[in-house]
Amino acid sequence: MLQLANVGKGYGPPTQPIPVLKDVSFSLSRGTFCALVGPSGSGKSTLLNIVGLLDKPDTGHVILDDVLVDYSSAQQAARLRNAMLGFVFQSFQLLPRLSAWQNVALPLLYRGIPRERRRMAALAMLERVGLADRSLHRPTELSGGQRQRVALARALIGEPSLILADEPTGSLDSVTAIEVMELLRQLNRSLNVTILMVTHDRDLAAQCDRQIEFLDGRIVSDRLSPAAAVPMPA
Ligand SMILES: Nc1ncnc2c1ncn2[C@@H]1O[C@H](COP(=O)(O)OP(=O)(O)O)[C@@H](O)[C@H]1O
Ligand SMILES: [Mg+2]
Repeated sequence: MLQLANVGKGYGPPTQPIPVLKDVSFSLSRGTFCALVGPSGSGKSTLLNIVGLLDKPDTGHVILDDVLVDYSSAQQAARLRNAMLGFVFQSFQLLPRLSAWQNVALPLLYRGIPRERRRMAALAMLERVGLADRSLHRPTELSGGQRQRVALARALIGEPSLILADEPTGSLDSVTAIEVMELLRQLNRSLNVTILMVTHDRDLAAQCDRQIEFLDGRIVSDRLSPAAAVPMPA
């Protein structure tokens, strides 16, 4: 469902770019929960941004759900993002003035879905993440773990096939991080949604189906976790 072939990216002056990603190739089959690990500055977020169509590679290509990504087409990017991608960030990125359900429903607002249908869908998704009783709370009235659950519900409401999560447990204490990780795993299994998750946490990474390790912009290891049940390729 995701293929990267020889993706390269550099920053800085075009004459002397500093390489950040070098010849990155891998593919993910549907339903895989994959961790991306590696030291700070190794290119993990850059890779996630390229897959999320927020940044463009200098070389190589990306195929999302059998579509070859054209990074010069803002229209295609908007369509693909809307139809198949969900994002989760370390800092939650919720809108402070909106209630939990309104935050969750935002992607549906952009799709022009009427208010009552948005509200019903958001409430159902909040229930899925265990927050049915917090729908009217604003982000400041929620704990870190609850905020990340709201963000997860928002990422999932458009029924994406791929969730891109950049350190989703990075601002949470270790107990809450485990809870959010368990929820991610449960959603991964029940919805068969593919997840690509950047994490610093070796224990959390080990619970994923697969771990891809980066160093200086290159993949240095790529292994399936013996503990996890690996889904069949789609
Ligand atoms: N927009 C940018 N402009 C210039 N350099 C950048 C930019 N984004 C990332 N970098 C550089 O690219 C390297 C990789 O960054 P990043 O992908 O954020 O790494 P990671 O997420 O693994 O910590 C770093 O050296 C960083 O300074
Ligand atoms: Mg990063």
